Amino acid sequence: MKDASPATPPLEIFLSDYTPPAYLVDTVDLTFKLDPTATRVLSKIAFRPNPDAVDKTFYLHGEQLKLISATIDGKDAQAKVTDLGLTAQAPDAPFIWEAEVEISPSTNTALEGLYMSKGMYCTQCEAEGFRKITYYPDRPDVMGVFTVTIEGSEKVKLSNGNDLGDGKWHDPWPKPAYLFALVAGDLVNLHDTFTTKSGRHVDLNIYVRDGDLHKTAFGMDALKRSMTWDEEVYGREYDLDLFNIVAVDDFNMGAMENKGLNIFNSSAVLASPDTSTDGNFARIETIIAHEYFHNWTGNRITCRDWFQLCLKEGLTVFRDQQFSGDTRGHAVERINDVLQLRARQFREDNGPLAHPVRPESFVEINNFYTATVYEKGAEVIGMLKTLIGDDAYYKGCELYFTRHDGQACTIEDWLKCFEDTTGRDLTQFKLWYQQAGTPRVKVGESYKDGTYTLTFTQSTPATPGQDTKDPRVIPIAVGLLNDAGEEIQATRICEVTDEIHKFRFTGLDAKPVPSINRGFSAPIILERDQSNEERAFLLAHDTDPFNKWESGRALGRDVLVRMVTEDATPDQAYLDALEAVARDDTLAPDFKALCFSGPSNDDIQQALVDAGVTPDPTKIFLASQTFNLSISQSLQDLLPRIYAEMQIDGPYRPVAEDMGKRDWGNAALAMLSRLDGGAQAAKQFATADNMTQQLSALGCLLRAEVGEEQNQAFYDQWKNDRLVMDKWFSMQVMFAKLDAAPKMAKALTEHPDFDMTNPNRFRAVFGALAGNTAGFHSPDGSGYALLADWLIKLDAKNPQTAARMSTAYETWKRYDADRQGMMRDALERIKAAPKLSGDLSEMVTRILN
Ligand code: ARG
Ligand code: ZN
Repeated sequence: MKDASPATPPLEIFLSDYTPPAYLVDTVDLTFKLDPTATRVLSKIAFRPNPDAVDKTFYLHGEQLKLISATIDGKDAQAKVTDLGLTAQAPDAPFIWEAEVEISPSTNTALEGLYMSKGMYCTQCEAEGFRKITYYPDRPDVMGVFTVTIEGSEKVKLSNGNDLGDGKWHDPWPKPAYLFALVAGDLVNLHDTFTTKSGRHVDLNIYVRDGDLHKTAFGMDALKRSMTWDEEVYGREYDLDLFNIVAVDDFNMGAMENKGLNIFNSSAVLASPDTSTDGNFARIETIIAHEYFHNWTGNRITCRDWFQLCLKEGLTVFRDQQFSGDTRGHAVERINDVLQLRARQFREDNGPLAHPVRPESFVEINNFYTATVYEKGAEVIGMLKTLIGDDAYYKGCELYFTRHDGQACTIEDWLKCFEDTTGRDLTQFKLWYQQAGTPRVKVGESYKDGTYTLTFTQSTPATPGQDTKDPRVIPIAVGLLNDAGEEIQATRICEVTDEIHKFRFTGLDAKPVPSINRGFSAPIILERDQSNEERAFLLAHDTDPFNKWESGRALGRDVLVRMVTEDATPDQAYLDALEAVARDDTLAPDFKALCFSGPSNDDIQQALVDAGVTPDPTKIFLASQTFNLSISQSLQDLLPRIYAEMQIDGPYRPVAEDMGKRDWGNAALAMLSRLDGGAQAAKQFATADNMTQQLSALGCLLRAEVGEEQNQAFYDQWKNDRLVMDKWFSMQVMFAKLDAAPKMAKALTEHPDFDMTNPNRFRAVFGALAGNTAGFHSPDGSGYALLADWLIKLDAKNPQTAARMSTAYETWKRYDADRQGMMRDALERIKAAPKLSGDLSEMVTRILN
């Protein structure tokens, strides 16, 4: 469908229909007269015709605005207004647009545009929220210089850029409207400073509501470390005298990189030892870095249109992963990133919601802030770096920053920088942006006369709208070991470009043991008949930490799959291999903990699907129980010693070394709890002096179904801390067994502290339900029905979060006919709900197809 008239935008928007904007913006002056139900927004915008425009219609986006007045060069604009925007006769010369609109922040429960959260005003404009603030060409390729005046009695009034005093702000850097931000409220702040490498003095603040100030120190430290890292690794310096972060309780996402005024979900910035887990600290550090890094990858260079979202998100995720690796250790960070990728992105890529890293069309762009755009987008950058090498990668980035500073760009612009610096043709590489689906690579091997040959055969299954795929370029890192466990071929990148591609390794004495896709160098599914002996061998000897872990994981998966399909019991060889890991003093504690984390439910399900078996979540859950119990029993004698050795004296520190010890110690506690009925966990709960220890003990007790008393104590202790209460809500659903999970979720929605309008609280309950696979898929369908009820309720208030959570159903076609039928019913029921939002409607339609 063609965008015939901009006054009636099409439902589905296509990348191929892109046309340049009719008018460009030089400056934007905004005045906000704040009022909870009747905020007035005055805008004065200097437009000029775009010489490159095809369609010359003057069109401004605008939704849910009450237009008070609009003029062009001082004369009534005689605008034609629809629900989505307006058109007017504009001169074919520069002109001034002035308008006044009225909006109601306090009734804005969608949390998009200007809204209120616990008495404070805040904004979320990405992707298309600015059009709910005033009439504007709300597209990222229109960039303007903003000056903002905020009128209101609030103690603190913030916007982008530099503070001119009295609620007046000026941002010298031209930016698209999605980077606009405003905050006003009675806030307090932690202040600090940073001096950039060329000597710019930058004031740093983290603004929070009264009572949260003690949770800001870690975020500030993470911010300063991020600023230093971007200077050292990418040569990127900060470009304003001020950098503000604000914590907001009601927020749809993690955080937002508005120029000079990042707005964070409070869960993504506030941390203290007694209220935050190690996992929270690590996540906060990553998100702070991510939003800060956007200043160059996203803000100084932005996206031409929303199809290019991965240009800023994939690249920025890649950068935050590099930062976290440098900070916390590359081996463990890489394993965690891949765990996430497989759990979320592979699942998406292999189901009805599969889409390319750069989608070709969308109905609602908010539905494309996905694991594919973010995480697979980051993998693609990683592969580019692997293929061209580190030096060429940073040279290409440097060219990108100088060539495109101040521009709104495309993936083509990005890739061209690397073609120009390396002389390499990246046409085939670009398929990673264009083709959806996770490539499968079959591995064949042969050995003859000292030559070992690996044959890779690639294929990618059909995905919605893409029946056939072309072969991609896949960098597969390979190392070889001899049967004494010594590395005889250091890691070499096999650049697979053809459908069938052979690689030879010569001069060998005997058939080697290959270690393939080291470091997970490509986001693919390897298909290889590998014996458990070889897996155990690699678990013991591989020099590549990722594949060492991966081999143990594959062993565990094989055991569990056989337990599900053949009622097997865990084999001794596997238990011995795990014991060897537990006893190996050369391995870091966090690495050991990962080796014991066991295959995820999704891993098992995928393995079953691949083996042609319909996964039964109930059966998998029960098998996992036996699996974990067997492991605990086989390590029985060792566990108390491990547990004791991992205890830390002295105050809590959120550093990798201590976190690793707590991880491994708590893994030991979880195993112990399966044997001692929770006795040790109860002790830990009673004496814990930080949230990591307290919460993991509570988890063990809930799992053992003996934690009632502690659960109540936890509530009493933390009932006034919103972020800890989210954990409390979530834990009870997470650890409820089988159909107790939907029952628990339902009971919690009736708890006085349940608040569906707060996305964190809603996710605490329903995210946990969706994540409790056996519970969500209870054979009576109660999980499906409960979620559907609540998504329909939530959609009326907050379509974005409702749409996002509907992905719980995306694997529905995997299951037996009964479950499929019940999930289809749930989806159909959502689809038929009156006044369903475009967001949720697009999602359920795609999931059902
Ligand atoms: N750009 C933000 C980030 O990745 C995410 C904002 C997404 N917002 C949305 N409404 N989809 O850091
Ligand atoms: Zn981002």
